[in-house]
Amino acid sequence: MEAVVECTDLWKIYHSGKVEVPALRGVNLEVQEGEFVAIMGPSGCGKSTLLYVLGGLTPPSSGRVLVDGNDLARMSDGDRTLLRRRKIGFVFQRFNLLPTLTAYGNIAIAQHIQGDGFDPHRFEVTVNLLGLQDRLQHKPSELSGGEQQRVAIARAVVSEPKIVLADEPTGNLDSQNSEAVLKMLKQLNRELGQTLIMITHNPEAAAYADRIVHMRDGRILEPPAPPAG
Ligand SMILES: Nc1ncnc2c1ncn2[C@@H]1O[C@H](COP(=O)(O)OP(=O)(O)O)[C@@H](O)[C@H]1O
Ligand SMILES: [Mg+2]
Repeated sequence: MEAVVECTDLWKIYHSGKVEVPALRGVNLEVQEGEFVAIMGPSGCGKSTLLYVLGGLTPPSSGRVLVDGNDLARMSDGDRTLLRRRKIGFVFQRFNLLPTLTAYGNIAIAQHIQGDGFDPHRFEVTVNLLGLQDRLQHKPSELSGGEQQRVAIARAVVSEPKIVLADEPTGNLDSQNSEAVLKMLKQLNRELGQTLIMITHNPEAAAYADRIVHMRDGRILEPPAPPAG
């Protein structure tokens, strides 16, 4: 097994006015290729910050992030953007779909942005996997929350990123839609081997993961030592 996302002694201090907010205080994490990791912890403990730093959206104050062997701090902004587009798919709690585009447009545009152009086969596989065949001509406002999140997931995974980072993907969904979305994320992880890092508040959602990482006050809690003997 090989680590596809790795961070060492990661610190992130936000400066809001004269106040320093230490959001990450020495985080070490290694996620193996194909692993599904859930990150849990109370509101404000640094979960979103960690995900955005790992995904190259926010620079850390100090510490090292390796994504598929690339040291983010040693890359130019342009190279980091390319790495992000090619290797990482993001899913957010607020679906962040473009309101004027149909589901089809929202998913297709992601393939164009990714840089390799539109791949009809890949598009069809993704849409079928997420059960969106009959919803493609609808705009986000004409879709249920669960359907919108499935479109957002399709958009994130259509270009086959190695890594999917999801920030409370079921946070705005009822339990039935949450279950459907989680099953699909798990299926993508299993069938396409995508590495999945998912933040959640919900223990039922976290139970889908191979491993649960708990955070408190900008740190990862060490798992309890295995029983002796
Ligand atoms: N852009 C920002 N500027 C200043 N403080 C921030 C910013 N983003 C987050 N924080 C603070 O950093 C801490 C961690 O936030 P966050 O990573 O969003 O936590 P979580 O996702 O676990 O709720 C919180 O105290 C939050 O208020
Ligand atoms: Mg958050």
